[in-house]
Amino acid sequence: MLVFVVSIFSVLHAAVAAVTVYGQIPLGVTTAPAPGATVPAAYNDTVLNPPAIPDPAPSTAFTLTLPASSTGVTGLSIPIHGTFFGFSIEMSVIEQLMGRNSSYIQVPLLNLFSNLVERGGGLHVRVGGNTQEYAYYVPELPNGKMIAKELSATNNPTKTPAVTYTQDLFYMLSNISSLVNVKWYIGVPFNDTSNFRFEIVEYSDAILGDNLLGMQVGNEPDLYARHQHRPDTYGPQDYVNDFGLLVAALAADTNVTTRNNLIGPSLAGTWTPESVWDTGFVDKFASSLGALSVEHYPIDNCFARYGVGTLHDPQTIFPNFLTHAAAVGACSKYLGSSALAQASGKPFLMFETNSASCGGFPGISNSFGGALWALDYGLQMAYSNFSGALFHIGGQNVYYNPFTAAPTNISRYYDWTVGAPYYAAIVSAEIFGKTNTSQILDLLGNDANDLTPQYGIYENGALARVALFNYMTDPTGANDYKATISVTGGAVPASVQVKYLLSDSVSTKNNITWANQTMGTKFTVDGRFKGDMNIVSIPCDTNANTCVVSVPAPGFALVSLVAEPDISTVTFSTTAYTNVAGTATVAPEVLQTSNGMSGKDWQIGSTSKSRKSGAHSLRRAHYEVMEVWLAATVVLLGLVTEGFIA
Ligand SMILES: *[C@@H]1O[C@H](CO)[C@@H](O)[C@H](O)[C@H]1NC(C)=O
Ligand SMILES: *[C@@H]1O[C@H](CO)[C@@H](O)[C@H](O)[C@H]1NC(C)=O
Ligand SMILES: *[C@@H]1O[C@H](CO)[C@@H](O)[C@H](O)[C@H]1NC(C)=O
Ligand SMILES: *[C@@H]1O[C@H](CO)[C@@H](O)[C@H](O)[C@H]1NC(C)=O
Ligand SMILES: *[C@@H]1O[C@H](CO)[C@@H](O)[C@H](O)[C@H]1NC(C)=O
Repeated sequence: MLVFVVSIFSVLHAAVAAVTVYGQIPLGVTTAPAPGATVPAAYNDTVLNPPAIPDPAPSTAFTLTLPASSTGVTGLSIPIHGTFFGFSIEMSVIEQLMGRNSSYIQVPLLNLFSNLVERGGGLHVRVGGNTQEYAYYVPELPNGKMIAKELSATNNPTKTPAVTYTQDLFYMLSNISSLVNVKWYIGVPFNDTSNFRFEIVEYSDAILGDNLLGMQVGNEPDLYARHQHRPDTYGPQDYVNDFGLLVAALAADTNVTTRNNLIGPSLAGTWTPESVWDTGFVDKFASSLGALSVEHYPIDNCFARYGVGTLHDPQTIFPNFLTHAAAVGACSKYLGSSALAQASGKPFLMFETNSASCGGFPGISNSFGGALWALDYGLQMAYSNFSGALFHIGGQNVYYNPFTAAPTNISRYYDWTVGAPYYAAIVSAEIFGKTNTSQILDLLGNDANDLTPQYGIYENGALARVALFNYMTDPTGANDYKATISVTGGAVPASVQVKYLLSDSVSTKNNITWANQTMGTKFTVDGRFKGDMNIVSIPCDTNANTCVVSVPAPGFALVSLVAEPDISTVTFSTTAYTNVAGTATVAPEVLQTSNGMSGKDWQIGSTSKSRKSGAHSLRRAHYEVMEVWLAATVVLLGLVTEGFIA
């Protein structure tokens, strides 16, 4: 059965390109919507029924016995950074999500990034996707733009539009990095091995410097033949040969200084990773490779979107996501590759993933259950010795976005939408933290029941946190469980601090809270958490050396046995910087960082009403920076309808 699903997926993956190349569709415009959809997928309100409680149900009380020290604990992952859970942003939606150009950056995006950086110490974002293959540099674009979609995709049988970009794209990324600690993966065009168009490498290298993490060479080369980007016979050795051509050409490019950060093979799953490793790829290019990569979607929704392949009914497959088996199954085929990467001293990256190709599923991708799935899957990838995982973000016509920009040209910037996977990213950043020493273990307690998975996290060699999932939905409380954490070789603290990720049901989208805070419902997000943070303190039994933690059905609990950095000090003031255009503003630390920036760089002609009231603000310097962005957002949103709409 698994083989069947995988092969269907492979056949249909060709359609993925067609999803992600489109930009955001304004409300009311319906290009290739899912049947029955009245609004774009990113705002779909489908609510499925939660799966029934199995009979027999999992035990509601179990003990996890954990050594206080990591010494002698077998199966711990490699050290995982707080940047583990990152994002992959399709090139063609950069303008909508990030801003028009290097002097117009979206404020909500900075806030959303800032939340993650505060918790994990940084954030890794990949800019690319299918559109990178045909991207080409142009010195200038109309109306001050940094990126545009070429209208005629002559050279390209799948009609994937070519993206054109200017040097300013890299200033935009660099300017974001100077405000929040974001580092970038870029992709080099790989469609023409006789002319690699290395401008993207040269400008990334020169402008991004240390903020450039790596350069992807080939996106899903195992689908090139099907996409007619290469001959039908194109195989793993052909990819490896093409990679060699690029390495040789790069060596001859005197404008490039960094040549050891290449990333491949980024297979979609049609070829096994082993088919590339078996060519000697890793040894042959050891001095060029910065990381090894794969891409993975567990299933597809291509039938509903394009009428190709097999219909997967969301209600029927919903339970397949609400089980630890989903996470384990997605990672098991990569264990050989992650071991090879470790032996070769290379990080192993999940370069692009999400719940389903062809845009995800209504009622699943964006539900609370989808958040639990994404978090469990992310933690399982870490346990499987991946070094990072990038969750894909498309336009408004996909269901699985961690966040989506405001839908129309309305001139307000608190109308963004946050999707369930964003909460998984936030929790993951807190789980791994900022020390770069966290190691994770799949605990397989409660008789390894798939509905109640648990992980232990060791930091600096000591037990620091326990992560507890409950995938069941039962409003009666009868399937809430109590986990007894029993520590050996050390003492439990007097109390543990617990943060809960909660909602009423695995099906809901609107009531998701992390430690009692929420990003808000659709069209109400400005990128700041709303509500007061609530960390639950649970006393431990220091005689028995145990701590008992309840986990509701459904729910997730992050139990801290150590003192944590005080994230509650990060407040996103609604009064200090605001005036006319709403209650939103940029996170204080972003303003702090931006304070040193010269007005010359950032000032733009503003007709914003709020400019007038800036004069009597005590925080004038801060305020004006915010205001410039606000005006920028207004202009940007006025232009969303240009350029990327298919
Ligand atoms: C950004 O776009 C604006 C408006 O079109 C333009 O005036 C400005 O020069 C552009 N900035 C850059 C750096 O290209
Ligand atoms: C921000 O972008 C401008 C171009 O608009 C550039 O001059 C400036 O150097 C950039 N700042 C950083 C920190 O990259
Ligand atoms: C991850 O790597 C560690 C260290 O090499 C190893 O002990 C562990 O078994 C690996 N985990 C998996 C799931 O392969
Ligand atoms: C964690 O690793 C990142 C990337 O290598 C590095 O920039 C950062 O300084 C490290 N943090 C600590 C606390 O060592
Ligand atoms: C926003 O879109 C509406 C409907 O298409 C249009 O009438 C209006 O002029 C647009 N506003 C701006 C500022 O572009």
